[in-house]
Amino acid sequence: MKFICLNSILFIAFGWFYLVYFIDRNELSRPKESLTYLNQEEDGIKIIASNLNVPLEIAWGQDNQIWIAEHGGLISRMNPETGNKQVLLELTDIWVSRTAGLLGMALHSDMKKFPYVFICYTIQKDKKYLMRLVRYKSDKDTLNEPKILMEIPAANGHNGSRLVVRKGILYWATGDALSLTDSQNPKTPNGKILRMNIDGTAPSDNPMKGSLVWAWGFRNIQGMVFSESGQLYTSEHGDATDDEINLISKARNYGWPTVQGFAESVEETTFKGLHNTVDPIKAWTPTIAPAGLDYYSYDKIPALKNSLLLVTLKGKSLRVLKLDNEGKKILGEQVYFENKFGRIRDLCVSPAGDVYLATSNRDWNPVSGFPQASDDRIIKISKLDPANPHNIVSSIPPGSKSALLYQQYCASCHKDDGMGVKGIFPSLQTSLIVVNNPKEFVKKILSGSNGPATINGVTYDTPMPSFAFLKDDELIDITTYVRSLGSNHAAPIKPELIKELRTTLNK
Ligand code: HEC
Repeated sequence: MKFICLNSILFIAFGWFYLVYFIDRNELSRPKESLTYLNQEEDGIKIIASNLNVPLEIAWGQDNQIWIAEHGGLISRMNPETGNKQVLLELTDIWVSRTAGLLGMALHSDMKKFPYVFICYTIQKDKKYLMRLVRYKSDKDTLNEPKILMEIPAANGHNGSRLVVRKGILYWATGDALSLTDSQNPKTPNGKILRMNIDGTAPSDNPMKGSLVWAWGFRNIQGMVFSESGQLYTSEHGDATDDEINLISKARNYGWPTVQGFAESVEETTFKGLHNTVDPIKAWTPTIAPAGLDYYSYDKIPALKNSLLLVTLKGKSLRVLKLDNEGKKILGEQVYFENKFGRIRDLCVSPAGDVYLATSNRDWNPVSGFPQASDDRIIKISKLDPANPHNIVSSIPPGSKSALLYQQYCASCHKDDGMGVKGIFPSLQTSLIVVNNPKEFVKKILSGSNGPATINGVTYDTPMPSFAFLKDDELIDITTYVRSLGSNHAAPIKPELIKELRTTLNK
């Protein structure tokens, strides 16, 4: 009795102290993000895996496991119910740098009879960069018997890739590897969709006898999927403008680098007339950096039925692209989860109709607010209601017109605050030209750059696209915004300067 009394007195005297301390400490030790979804479903959302390192590709296996290919060269298999993950293969001959690394994985469409897994990744050989396509045999808990099917040129960017197997035939979407001629050259493997048997030979019904080329004229495909009825779709990164979704037909030219997005300019329509190029079924300017693409045919989430599901990096969202009955047109676009999970790289759909998203917040080009403590993550979506604001939230306030333009055209590289990423994208806050040399500043925006450039003693070899397509008043808005970022304090650039530079640069 005495003891209880003493305890109560002590609690009344000091208990609140303890409680406040405990709550405070908990607040401090808690990661910035909300972990509410971890292992429990809320609003149809559940985080089923965390602490991954840039899962480039996730695929639902016929063994009802999720197969995961991480950018650094790890292939593993995860039980979506328990989250238990088992590593099957760790590549040792891979070359990893910025976007180069393990870039594609596909499981055979009939794993029981043909237990094969196809992967492609960049390597360095005799001082050259190559993209290697390898077939592995899946055997219990490992992948073995690697058979190299192909090695093609690779580069410091634009290496694609996506792999898909349908009816025992392997499709490989290759990047142009920064070449401006390969995409239009039917004799080279880059900038193409290649179609092959599972031993790497050309099927007899390919368009050109003995050649793997199925379609060409591509820049850098980041998503590829067959619909239920067998139509092939791709998502592709444009340059400064025109990200695309294409519906792929056999032996057709998709126009890169001359035609970007829909053929509109005189140069584009002339090229289209001469080469019979195919326009995309959807294009985005400002760009969204599309990535993984999937097709949804289930009843479970009605809002997704007969749609292409596209995840985006720059756009940080899941986009639902409603198809018409023939699958030839995109009728509408709904954006979900904008900025909620950060950059999203790939997705897969289970036979139960659940959608799994894989984030890409630990990759080479991080965005503000990410990575969060448990990134990268795989997120299960089992319910989606377009009327639920929870699903559609966008945390970027529209702000001023100039802030929005900067956000749409510059921030994906130079970042929201203009500080860039050291060694990859220079800071516009500490730039020597932004404030002091308006001519060079505008010139850079109009002409872009193929690098390398040395800025404040650091070398930048990433290209910057030309933004000459922006209107004069948009350029004034953007430059004024950049000239007021952080400690930059400079007057707006005069319209005459832009006009004069357009004439001298012919832009
Ligand atoms: C795809 C990435 C990318 C985008 C988008 C981009 N830039 Fe750049 N930018 C770069 C890279 C890489 C460099 C460094 C290479 C160089 O200067 O040649 C650079 C350099 C610059 C420089 C030169 C800095 C200095 O100190 O010399 C300026 C100014 C600049 N960018 C402004 C912009 C503006 C304004 C936009 C939006 C209209 C923009 N950039 C969009 C990648 C990008």
